[in-house]
Amino acid sequence: MTYAQIVGWGYAVPARTMTNFEIEKMVDTSDEWIRTRTGISERRIAGPKETTATLATRAAQNALQVADLSPSKVDLVIVATSTPDYPLPSVASIIQDSIGASRAGAFDINAACSGFIYALAVASGMIASGIYETILVIGADTLSRMIDWTDRSTCILFGDGAGALLLRKSDCPTGLRACVLGSDGSGVGSLYIPAGGSRAPLTVEHVQNRQHLIKMKGSEVYRFAIQAITQATQQAVQQAGLTVDDIDLFIPHQANIRIIQAAAKALKIPPEKVFSNVHRYGNTSTASIPIALCEAIEMGKVGVGANLALVGFGAGLAWGAAIVQWGVDATPVPVAWWKSVIRNIHSREAVVRSFALRTQRRLDALRRFNGVNGI
Ligand code: ACO
Repeated sequence: MTYAQIVGWGYAVPARTMTNFEIEKMVDTSDEWIRTRTGISERRIAGPKETTATLATRAAQNALQVADLSPSKVDLVIVATSTPDYPLPSVASIIQDSIGASRAGAFDINAACSGFIYALAVASGMIASGIYETILVIGADTLSRMIDWTDRSTCILFGDGAGALLLRKSDCPTGLRACVLGSDGSGVGSLYIPAGGSRAPLTVEHVQNRQHLIKMKGSEVYRFAIQAITQATQQAVQQAGLTVDDIDLFIPHQANIRIIQAAAKALKIPPEKVFSNVHRYGNTSTASIPIALCEAIEMGKVGVGANLALVGFGAGLAWGAAIVQWGVDATPVPVAWWKSVIRNIHSREAVVRSFALRTQRRLDALRRFNGVNGI
């Protein structure tokens, strides 16, 4: 059998931290309300030059560094995101170029905050079926760009970030053991952006009425979330032939500490097996699970053979749960100086390659133009 082993991991968050106290100055709220209702103390907000692609590129480069792999070995880049740099093309293509994955295909998946689980399932399936050997799976979002900063019920919740896993073909039984994906599109109005899509192409009126920004019925999503996490985890655990007791680390989507605690309680998972960093990052949408996984690894919570339950939920309404068996020693090893030099060369190479391709395209266009005009 062929398995998809996770051999690399990395994340990136903006440098800019926004505390609850700053939000107190923007809307009628308080640090105390936000902390007690959500568990969030601060979040990271993308700076003017940061985008979903720049954060995802850094996360991907970190994952390649951990795996000690050249970007030219990557067969496919899959990015789960709801906030691509442009409506067209995919942000995955931008990342394929920026990391120098010269042989790779690239596409985006949009399943909102569950997107990373969907992307992981697609990538694992492609490797297990023998289509590809090496796939970069990235979850990246900059929801701060879609937030209505005058709406206190949503602006307190979200932050920006990206997380990446590198999956490689392996004979060892490791990686994704089971997966449950679900959707209930009747809940589209619970959490959505009304304008800017094919149903309501953006107009000045939409922008004036803030219809291009996130609208959410918080308590509806809250109730859905607890039920979705609980049921999907139970189903995935069963599908993996395990019991909830066999789960070593539970990493749910980091939306609200009360949702995480209520779901863990319903599943009877003890607090020491539950990972949360929502207090520092808020809800980073589809990036929250890979960022949390990377931090859990850094903290030494993920050992060889560990069973992880990764569970996402969000707009759609959609959800996904994955049981992952960890297969590699995640103890950090110091990187040899010459490897850092090679990596530096790789990233410069990617920039030069991209520039050369753009220049070539411009020259081709100029030649065609001159030909047509007989010059
Ligand atoms: N500060 C102070 N008061 C507030 C704030 C705020 N920031 N926001 C709402 N309130 C008020 C409300 O106006 C309401 O006042 P009222 O009783 O006078 O009408 C009161 O607080 C209670 O409001 P609720 O919405 O019932 O508060 P709740 O305890 O449900 O918490 C919250 C709201 C935090 C949004 C919660 O419902 C939640 O976390 N829901 C899930 C949201 C979520 O996870 N979304 C992301 C999904 S992932 C994705 O796909 C992007």
